[in-house]
Amino acid sequence: MDTYISTADPSVLLCLGMTAAFGIITFYKAKKNQVEKRCISARGLLLLFLLEILCFVMLKSYVGLILFSMACLICNIYVSVQTMLPVDNKAVLITGSDSGFGHALAKYLDNLGFVVFAGVLNEKGSGAEELKRSCSQRLCVLQLDITSSAQIKEAYLKISEMVQNTGLWGVVNNAGILGFPADGELLPMSVYKQCMDVNFFGHVETTKMFLPLLRKSKGRLINISSMAGIQGTSELWAKQEKHLLENLTPDVKKDYGEDYIEALKNFLLHMPVHSEPDLSPVLDDVLHALLAKSPHGLYTPGKSAYLTLCIFCYFPLWLYDFYIGKLQSNKSVPSALRASEAKNKNT
Ligand SMILES: NC(=O)c1ccc[n+]([C@@H]2O[C@H](COP(=O)([O-])OP(=O)(O)OC[C@H]3O[C@@H](n4cnc5c(N)ncnc54)[C@H](OP(=O)(O)O)[C@@H]3O)[C@@H](O)[C@H]2O)c1
Repeated sequence: MDTYISTADPSVLLCLGMTAAFGIITFYKAKKNQVEKRCISARGLLLLFLLEILCFVMLKSYVGLILFSMACLICNIYVSVQTMLPVDNKAVLITGSDSGFGHALAKYLDNLGFVVFAGVLNEKGSGAEELKRSCSQRLCVLQLDITSSAQIKEAYLKISEMVQNTGLWGVVNNAGILGFPADGELLPMSVYKQCMDVNFFGHVETTKMFLPLLRKSKGRLINISSMAGIQGTSELWAKQEKHLLENLTPDVKKDYGEDYIEALKNFLLHMPVHSEPDLSPVLDDVLHALLAKSPHGLYTPGKSAYLTLCIFCYFPLWLYDFYIGKLQSNKSVPSALRASEAKNKNT
């Protein structure tokens, strides 16, 4: 049975006073600057107040007091994890700023007051032009193909000259290519090699080049990679399909069937319907990784991204296969498999 305590009890008044003080401090912190306001999110504050209201309602019992202490502890941890360093003209290099996340991130960080070095694959391209047109004078567009050692070195020399006194705070390895997500057997070796060149060796070489600058500033290295991100265009898929068909041996082409490859392409064409157009979860996570006093080791922005990772890491592989199979509405089967299934049915 609970022992009830009076609201006139000094310990209760103390708790109420602490709750109020804690709320005021949190609000003050949240309002302090634009960056913290975004990262101490509305969701976090809502959780904070729900917990406090819950404790307040239950405060008449010792259970309430215990809940209150727990709520304060959780909130304290939450707020300290979200505490952000000031932007203070921190300099950040982003690779692959021509389009997508990199492009949006360059604009976002520039708007918050960072000195952005926007590495682009094509400095004459529309993405680079758009950045020059729409961002502040602080932003510097740099030609940076991360598969070119010479361009990485050149970017390093330019950046280190420009950040002599302030240092480079962050490198965001964002540049990446998707290729044509198809059965491994169908892909020509050139696709594997290009994928490794950009998505792996390019990131490694860029990182190795810039690490001494990051070490000096005790800054942040952020690697963006994909579990299953797919965002191509119809032209890209058509080009990839053509390249794939041209490189298939006749027997592999026969075993899979052109209709199967066509179905893969059609599936990819419809992927954008399932993709989230709002990039803010990614932008906010990168910002957190750049400025949080206690950044996380891993971020999984976007709905169900963490679920996918969790299933893959902690559950049997067949469950992951089943889950991915359900996510992919592509019901098409290679022709050899179709033939063998039909044969099994008939025997
Ligand atoms: N979109 C998703 O759903 C998703 C999900 C998970 C992870 N990701 C990851 O997020 C990162 C960005 O993806 P995104 O969706 O924003 O794709 P994106 O729009 O294609 O952006 C990738 C950028 O990298 C550039 N790039 C390609 N090869 C390069 C090279 N050799 N050197 C320098 N830059 C190069 C591309 O230039 P061009 O525009 O000229 O080709 C493009 O601007 C990638 O690492 C991707 O794996 C994306």
